[in-house]
Amino acid sequence: MTEATQQHDLYATHVNPQFVKVLRTIGYDKEYVRAEGQYLWDKDGNRYLDLLSGYGVFTIGRNHPAIKKALHDAIDANHASMVQMDAPLLAAQLAKRLLAKMPDHVDTVFFTNSGTEANEAAIKFAKCATKRNRIIYLDHAFHGLTNGSLSLNGNDEFRNGFEPLLPNCDMIPLNDIDALEAALSKKDVAAFVFEPIQGKGVYLAKTDYFQKAQALCRKYGTLMIADEVQSGLGRTGRWFAYEHYGISPDIITVAKALSGGFIPVGACCYPRAVYDKVFHKMDRCVVHSNTFGRNALAMVAGLATLDVMETENIPMQAAMRGEELIGGMRAMMGEFEMLSDVRGKGMMIAIEFSRPKSLLLRTGWDLIHKANKGLFGQMVVVPLMSKHRILSQVTGHNVDVVKLLPPAIMTSDDVNYFLDSFRAVMQDCHRFPGGAWEVAMQLAKQAIKA
Ligand SMILES: Cc1ncc(COP(=O)(O)O)c(C=O)c1O
Repeated sequence: MTEATQQHDLYATHVNPQFVKVLRTIGYDKEYVRAEGQYLWDKDGNRYLDLLSGYGVFTIGRNHPAIKKALHDAIDANHASMVQMDAPLLAAQLAKRLLAKMPDHVDTVFFTNSGTEANEAAIKFAKCATKRNRIIYLDHAFHGLTNGSLSLNGNDEFRNGFEPLLPNCDMIPLNDIDALEAALSKKDVAAFVFEPIQGKGVYLAKTDYFQKAQALCRKYGTLMIADEVQSGLGRTGRWFAYEHYGISPDIITVAKALSGGFIPVGACCYPRAVYDKVFHKMDRCVVHSNTFGRNALAMVAGLATLDVMETENIPMQAAMRGEELIGGMRAMMGEFEMLSDVRGKGMMIAIEFSRPKSLLLRTGWDLIHKANKGLFGQMVVVPLMSKHRILSQVTGHNVDVVKLLPPAIMTSDDVNYFLDSFRAVMQDCHRFPGGAWEVAMQLAKQAIKA
């Protein structure tokens, strides 16, 4: 038995056997031993280009030397971390640095250990501050998988098996401003929770949607909660994705990239007016709290990450490489009839495929969609990995969408390598009958067998 097999068997035995089946089925059962920047290496020395970034954690790349040094130094400094009955300086410093990038009225931070926990805090704070209990969220939304965040999930496949979730959470379609007004006008809505750019499927709002939504929220006394867990901190070419829309949310949640890829950290950033309603007297000063939230290593990682992001101008890098990637793929749309849309901002990109017009290709398309609705995306990501050593993923269930979340530090050479590889994969997919379709049918068979 090879080591890789042992590793995956061990994981299957003790952690998640179904996930190991998926990895094996799509040929993602690699044994990675090292990582640096935008690359991963397996034990045979093969290098992989990582366009998934740990679901958006590695915006500044993996194992960044500045974060490593800051963390080594912090460990050597024997910090008095998690005293709990103290006011940690590092937390105050990180809060100040984060808030400096946000609208003036967002002036207080609650630190968390994850994105979903930041959203849980935002939900609780909004309900408590407004004394209302209804929450509005968007179709396709993803805010995390704990009970409250899951109650705002716009995808049935995540909710199934866990319902009933929180009561009084209503989903509305993105871009439907009338639906939002109908929901808010009852004046019982605590918060409208949204991702400024949606992670599942990378769906973007119409230019004026969020501005109109903001006006409605102000009119009806509803707090606007921008979930920037994935889109924040440079990923979309701005510090925060809400900036693309010229809005000023009341509450902003962040996590992922703030960790520098090392220590989990999240933050719910909110106005003092909300703080004053939640923590309004001394015996409520920790009425919402956690144990690890302000731990020294997480704060150091956050501070060092902001330093790196500022020094290396990460938002600008994300914007430039994103334009190259999106522009490069859009230029191929005339050439490949199944490539129907390339959308996104900065390093948050979706590639969508649609049923072709030509008869032969349509036969192949219909065949694999009959076998499995989400298979076409795998026909793209599987050869990107097996032939070109590029790590990517399909986004969501039963959709023909591949998603890229590359590190912002990816170079123009990496972009060109990806574009050449993507073109080669598209050429294979646009040949029916052909190897790519046979691989897809094999995948379908293996999935059924598994
Ligand atoms: C927009 C958004 N919100 C929240 C979360 C949940 O974050 P975490 O996995 O750290 O709980 C995610 C994770 O992918 C996300 O993309």
